[in-house]
Amino acid sequence: MSNPTYPVVELLGDGIGSELAESVRQLAESCLPFRLAWRSVDLTLKNRRQRGEPLYDEAIEAMRSIGCGLKYPTVTAEESPNQVLRSRLDLSVIHRPVQTIPGIPTNFKAEVDLDIVRIATGGTYEDPGRMIGKQAAVSLRIVEREPCRQAATYAFELARRTHKSVTSASKHTIQRITDGLFESIVREVGAKYPDIKRRIELFDALLAKIVLKPAEYQIVLVLNEYGDFLSDMACGLVGSLGIGASGNYAFDAEGHVKIGMFDAAHGTAPDIAGQGKANPTAIFLALALMLYHLGEIRAGSAVKNACLDLLREGTRTPDLGGKCTTLEFTAAVAARAKE
Ligand code: NAI
Repeated sequence: MSNPTYPVVELLGDGIGSELAESVRQLAESCLPFRLAWRSVDLTLKNRRQRGEPLYDEAIEAMRSIGCGLKYPTVTAEESPNQVLRSRLDLSVIHRPVQTIPGIPTNFKAEVDLDIVRIATGGTYEDPGRMIGKQAAVSLRIVEREPCRQAATYAFELARRTHKSVTSASKHTIQRITDGLFESIVREVGAKYPDIKRRIELFDALLAKIVLKPAEYQIVLVLNEYGDFLSDMACGLVGSLGIGASGNYAFDAEGHVKIGMFDAAHGTAPDIAGQGKANPTAIFLALALMLYHLGEIRAGSAVKNACLDLLREGTRTPDLGGKCTTLEFTAAVAARAKE
């Protein structure tokens, strides 16, 4: 039987984006046992300014029809492309794995390996707030059933595939209505997965417990703001906001993932753009998440493990004190992933 070809979108970006895209293509061509057929949409600032709304229409159409894509970092100028894509594609759940990356200096010495599943809509973030008279300000906090159900289903499906546990965390004892609704939906969805170990924590206690005993937590399911805070804290524990990747998901009416958009956490790194110094680890981790999404679990793990093994052994780009160029590191990952 011939190997499959997967159509995928690449949303090209600014700064180091073009070097990273070249690395991803080289890696994919040289080590994957199947073909990725890229459909490119150029989201560089220059093209955005030239083409305006029709360019976003093209990106949205590509993502909707193909259902899967890798997004490179883009400059936030007049608008944030991430925000536009998130809202137009209804990307309501973010999956952010945070793990200890060998070679990154950390204050925190224990190993961290968390999968943060965050509801990416609602909370207080969609309400700008308003003044009540001159002395008080309010904002409305919205918790909606549908994204809670989607995120919970995503978390439990992930747990089933990876044999991990799910912890939901909130302040349901105080925010009884909003966080209470979230926890009740998690309970409802969790009841369909009796094989998965599930627990509930109060969010403030969870922060302390993750610091004290990180190995006890695997998949953590949270509402928007909690997910925002937890992701940054976890990144702080592993010493980096930059060398991580996320999957952003939209769902169909049955709650199955309809669109997956994968990206690196870092920005366009204008200070090193065009110099062959960019570290492609984060975008390779995003590629690995995209391969998992395509069902190519072995290939995804091979790419991720090759990156982490090489970093552990000292094969690194200059940002981590190494001497490798972007393409040298890419070639090393490809060779290791093929083994
Ligand atoms: P940045 O992440 O681009 O850079 C911060 C520092 O990290 C710089 O010293 C840079 O050289 C280094 N760095 C980042 N990624 C690296 C990599 N892969 N390899 C080696 N070194 C790397 O953050 P900054 O400077 O705040 O933002 C620059 C631009 O990126 C801004 O226009 C911002 O709007 C945009 N941005 C875009 C994001 C996205 O599209 N997802 C996310 C964050 C920022």
